[in-house]
Amino acid sequence: MASSEHRALRVLQISDTHLHAAADSRMRGVRTYATFLHVLEHAQRDRRWPPDLVIATGDIVQDESRAGYERFRTSMEPFGIPVVTIPGNHDDPNLMAEILTGGSFQFCGELRQGAWSLLFLSTFLAGEDAGGLGTARLNGLRKALAAHVGQHVLVAMHHHPLPMGSTWLDGVALRDAAAFWEIIDANKHVRVVVCGHVHQASERQRNDLKFVSTPSTCAQFLPGSEFFALDERAPGARWLELHPDGRVDTEVTWARGSRG
Ligand SMILES: [Fe+2]
Repeated sequence: MASSEHRALRVLQISDTHLHAAADSRMRGVRTYATFLHVLEHAQRDRRWPPDLVIATGDIVQDESRAGYERFRTSMEPFGIPVVTIPGNHDDPNLMAEILTGGSFQFCGELRQGAWSLLFLSTFLAGEDAGGLGTARLNGLRKALAAHVGQHVLVAMHHHPLPMGSTWLDGVALRDAAAFWEIIDANKHVRVVVCGHVHQASERQRNDLKFVSTPSTCAQFLPGSEFFALDERAPGARWLELHPDGRVDTEVTWARGSRG
């Protein structure tokens, strides 16, 4: 990565692309490949482009298809920017790891860049829409945080570990959120936790860290809704600037006028 120790690490988070085997397939009325490309075009016109890193926080495909993952890869590859992906409930982690590894692509794991360490967690549970870490992944998180003491840490995951105030969505959240926060709260070097899954933007402070959710590159969910409902908002993405002193600047950008 091109970032030096003296300037912020620029990260573009994209989430819930929900691509299909067919390029023109729709999900909830939206042509997800078209809106994904529109978000990428929009990002390229941003003053922060190019990012040092792109993180894609799950639900890369909607139909667990090889062609969907290949389309994601061929869409991102020309930029030559490192891309880290984590699985969502709609993904096939094995297929995803096979196709989205190698070259500029990394599946889960961690990255260390200057003063920052980024941890990419899988919260995938086979056959479930909800997420979970489980004992092994929680232990892995504990060990990783211990290994990165002295660094500022970003944790990325698909499922939301804090309630969104939306009954149906909070029913498919991270199940072992209490165990997750017990570990995070004991590690004061975690500066920011980012997630996808909820198809809406949010930002809040929890103790000394920032917790953010990021909109989808396709359709959005209506915040605060008891039952499933779509929001009219445009496709979006999130920029994060991770400063060497641990500060985090972040902003969601909406790709209005999408042709999806
Ligand atoms: Fe999801």
